[in-house]
Amino acid sequence: MVIFFSILIGYLLGSVNFSYLIGKIYKKVDIRKYGSGNAGATNTLRVLGKGPAIIVLILDILKGVAAVLISHGIGGEAWVPFLAGLFAVIGHNWPVFFGFRGGKGIATTIGVLFTLVPIPSLLAGVIAILLILITRYVSLGSLVYTGLTPFFILLIGNHPISFFYIALVITILSLWRHRTNLKKLVQGKESKIGEKHGIED
Ligand code: G3P
Repeated sequence: MVIFFSILIGYLLGSVNFSYLIGKIYKKVDIRKYGSGNAGATNTLRVLGKGPAIIVLILDILKGVAAVLISHGIGGEAWVPFLAGLFAVIGHNWPVFFGFRGGKGIATTIGVLFTLVPIPSLLAGVIAILLILITRYVSLGSLVYTGLTPFFILLIGNHPISFFYIALVITILSLWRHRTNLKKLVQGKESKIGEKHGIED
C-alpha cells in the first residue's frame, strides 16, 4: 500500500505541468505548440521569457521535492521516496491531465535528486551548469546532469544500491526524452539558451 500510494502521489504531482499552466494563464497559449514544443522551463524561457521560466523552473523543482517528502512521510523503505520521485518525473513527461504530452523531466529530476542525494546531485549540477555556460546548450547540461548523478551516487557517500538503479532509470528516461535534442546537437542544429522563439514567430 505504501508503495502504491507513493507511486500514485508522485505520478499525480508530476502530472501538474507548470509550463503548460503558466502558458495558458500568462498568454493563453499551449506552450507545446511553440519553440521546441516541449512543456518545460527551457521552452518557457524561449517562448514566454525569463519571469515565467523562473516560476516554471521553481514549481517543477518543488513538485519533485514534494513527491519525495510526502512519500517519506507515508513511510516505507529508503528507496520508496526515490520511486515516488521517479514517478513524479514520469508524470511530468507523460501527464495524465494534459493528454500524456509533457516535458523532459529535468527540473523535477533536480528536485528529486537534490532532496535525496544532495552531494552527488550538487557535483553533477555544478559540472552541468559550467557546461551550459560554456556551450549555451541547456539540453547538453541536462544530459550530463542526469548522466553523471548515478555514478556520483555510487562513488560518493554511502547510499543504498537501489538509489543507483533508480537514478539510472531517470538517466534512461532523460536520454529518451532528449533524443531529438541529441540528434540536433550532433548536427549542430540545437538551439542555444538566449535564442528566442516568441509566440508571434
Ligand atoms: O530540460 C529540457 C532541456 O534539456 C531541453 O529543452 O526545450 O530545448 O528541448 P528544449
